[in-house]
Amino acid sequence: MNRRYRKTVIAGNWKMNMTATETKKFAEDMKKIMPRVKWCETLICVPACNISTAIKAFKDLRISVGAENVYFEEKGAYTGEVSADMLKDLGVKYVIVGHSERRQYFCETDTTVNKKVHAVLNAGMNPIICVGESLEQRETGITDEWIALQVKSALYGVPADKLRRCIIAYEPIWAIGTGKVAGPDEVLATHAVVRRLLCERLGETGNRIPILYGGSVKPANAGNLIGLDNVDGLLIGGASLDAQSFVQIIRA
Ligand code: PGA
Repeated sequence: MNRRYRKTVIAGNWKMNMTATETKKFAEDMKKIMPRVKWCETLICVPACNISTAIKAFKDLRISVGAENVYFEEKGAYTGEVSADMLKDLGVKYVIVGHSERRQYFCETDTTVNKKVHAVLNAGMNPIICVGESLEQRETGITDEWIALQVKSALYGVPADKLRRCIIAYEPIWAIGTGKVAGPDEVLATHAVVRRLLCERLGETGNRIPILYGGSVKPANAGNLIGLDNVDGLLIGGASLDAQSFVQIIRA
């Protein structure tokens, strides 16, 4: 990682976990142990119904609040959906877009991911764009091509000034929630592919876009991962649900 160019981003992804009451309890626990961090941007993406609670609860902790999803239309008859303006109005700064669980269970495609990226950027927030290959794709040897396709599709039509607000998260699907973390060579190679693409689009500025790693990040492996070239931060699922382990990762 090159700290000269990029701030480290430590992002939690709570998925469909934690009630509003549990969110407040988490914040209380964090208050006792959260280090005063200058070296990284810390954020947690929470379920939409708990965003307001989280924003209030995390205020003194200097933890930004993100959303886990958004709908790409501005407004209208889309029962159950939440727009980018609605999130922005609550004080949301980051939105996860294209998480593999959304692609797998909610039929999200590269096309809808791209529309959501535009919606998030147009509303003035930062998309955390998730890409990742399946085990089958890795074993077939098409990881690089697959990741390049996902990144290019997600960023299609995004102008350079807005591209600078994007964050890419590389999350191999086979590493999510499985306890199997990608090896250093795999992480290095795939992050280098993403970096090359970003620099092709943006020149030097491509070096300023953070690329996060996600998939079974734990306190025990966080230090090694964050030490790798082009790993500018971590996207953490399970281990972000516990204040103690989340803080251990921030310290790492
Ligand atoms: P995990 O999830 O850390 O529980 O593997 C990561 C993610 O899905 O973002």
